[in-house]
Amino acid sequence: MTDIVFLLNGEAQRLTNVPPTHTLLDWLRETRHLTGTKEGCNEGDCGACTVMVTDGDGAKSLNACILLVGQLHGKAVRTIEGISAPDGTKHPVQEAMVKQHGSQCGFCTPGIVVSLAVGHMNGAKNHDEVLAGNLCRCTGYAPIIRAAEAVEGMDVPDWMAEDLATLDGVAGSTPPYAPVTVDALADWYLANPEATLVGGATDVGLWLTKRLMDLPKVAFLGGIDEMKQIEVGKDMIRIGAGATIAALEQVMAKYHPSFAAMLRRYASTQIRNAATIGGNIANGSPIGDGPPALIALGATLHLRCGDKRREMPLEEFFIAYGKQDRKAGEFVEAISVPRQVDRLKCYKLSKRFDQDISAVCGCFNIAVEGGKVTAARIAFGGMAGTPLRATHVEQALIGQDWAKETVTAARDAFAQDYTPLSDMRASAQYRLETARNMLLRCYFEDQGTPVNVLEVQP
Ligand SMILES: Cc1cc2nc3c(=O)[nH]c(=O)nc-3n(C[C@H](O)[C@H](O)[C@H](O)COP(=O)(O)OP(=O)(O)OC[C@H]3O[C@@H](n4cnc5c(N)ncnc54)[C@H](O)[C@@H]3O)c2cc1C
Ligand code: FES
Ligand code: FES
Repeated sequence: MTDIVFLLNGEAQRLTNVPPTHTLLDWLRETRHLTGTKEGCNEGDCGACTVMVTDGDGAKSLNACILLVGQLHGKAVRTIEGISAPDGTKHPVQEAMVKQHGSQCGFCTPGIVVSLAVGHMNGAKNHDEVLAGNLCRCTGYAPIIRAAEAVEGMDVPDWMAEDLATLDGVAGSTPPYAPVTVDALADWYLANPEATLVGGATDVGLWLTKRLMDLPKVAFLGGIDEMKQIEVGKDMIRIGAGATIAALEQVMAKYHPSFAAMLRRYASTQIRNAATIGGNIANGSPIGDGPPALIALGATLHLRCGDKRREMPLEEFFIAYGKQDRKAGEFVEAISVPRQVDRLKCYKLSKRFDQDISAVCGCFNIAVEGGKVTAARIAFGGMAGTPLRATHVEQALIGQDWAKETVTAARDAFAQDYTPLSDMRASAQYRLETARNMLLRCYFEDQGTPVNVLEVQP
């Protein structure tokens, strides 16, 4: 087994004979007895296990419970034990948490301190967002936010800034399951089609921790820089399958802000820092937040098998629940979106604002000229066994006046497009009704009527 090499709290680590699918959390606690990193949910929901990971893209917070050691090769990890200086000097965030009484039982505190330390390092002022993936059950967030505000603008301690400088010498040769070029991945996967590809492991991690699956053969995509690129060209935005949701959110903020605002509600900072758009599509989930918006934008999916490439409209990839148009040894290489005037509106309905899976996710791309609807692409998640276009609703709108009457008349068409299920997230009837209301909301928003449904504004 090839070595996995990374920095831990400033010191080089070489893991020999450790399966690459071992979680960082288990390795830290069981092998290194670094028990400051806590295990709460073991599925990416609570943030008790938050660690800081630095690579060429900078410092990020990630959940150690679903972070696999094979993903760490060539990176630097800081746990709560490495947030204070080697001589015990506290990080300004730790001082502030004490002063502001930001901790009671303390179980969440290490994760919260790490999230805040990463936010501090990156100059964050959006503290709610930084902390959305850290669950505190007893202190309440006000003192914790006060601690975050207290350190705004303070210098980053020297020991925290060292990782990036030290990284260069760390990695050496890469293990065969961590290819660094798309060509190498394509060759390897064609020869090993039974292997599991790992993007951000925000699904795969749970197969290990919750389903207790063995994954004897894996390939990690995180080392392939060319697959992480998002290129904005004259006619197309080409999104590499390895681009994280956090990276996609940043780019979309400029070109399709409603998509970015919806992605801001995708899980938490830790999950968005890990999850890739390729994984979000390839998993075929009917409730993934990426596909509906991309389908509404007219995205093309680029698949690759060995040296053969093919492409298809993204909606055609999803054949039925759990069934996608992907052959053995074939992987998602990229997604491309045509450049267009922004008309996209995305609505995510879930029980919580942050860190919740959509019950219904509706995305509307409706072009209007001279008061008439000239084109419409509408796609939903949570309404069928796959992400699905609302073709009957689109037809009910095209050629009609862009008016409330048209939108009301199109309501019936939803039942032709969708026969949603009832489950723990929502009943079939509720899903159908809210999907109809999302179209109305899209119309009102387009007319300049305030439609923000948040009860509490910051
Ligand atoms: C706490 C939590 C909250 C979540 N919240 C949301 C949410 O709000 N919205 C949402 O949409 N999802 C959510 N998810 C689900 C998850 O984040 C997404 O499905 C994610 O995008 C998967 O991407 P990944 O890179 O982590 O995939 P991985 O877990 O690495 O892989 C997922 C699947 O895709 C395959 N795969 C990965 N990359 C490729 C590729 N390039 N080509 C072919 N196959 C590939 C893998 O083999 C695997 O089958 C959440 C997950 C967690 C744990
Ligand atoms: S233990 Fe809950 S997110 Fe990792
Ligand atoms: S201090 Fe107890 S859970 Fe946060």
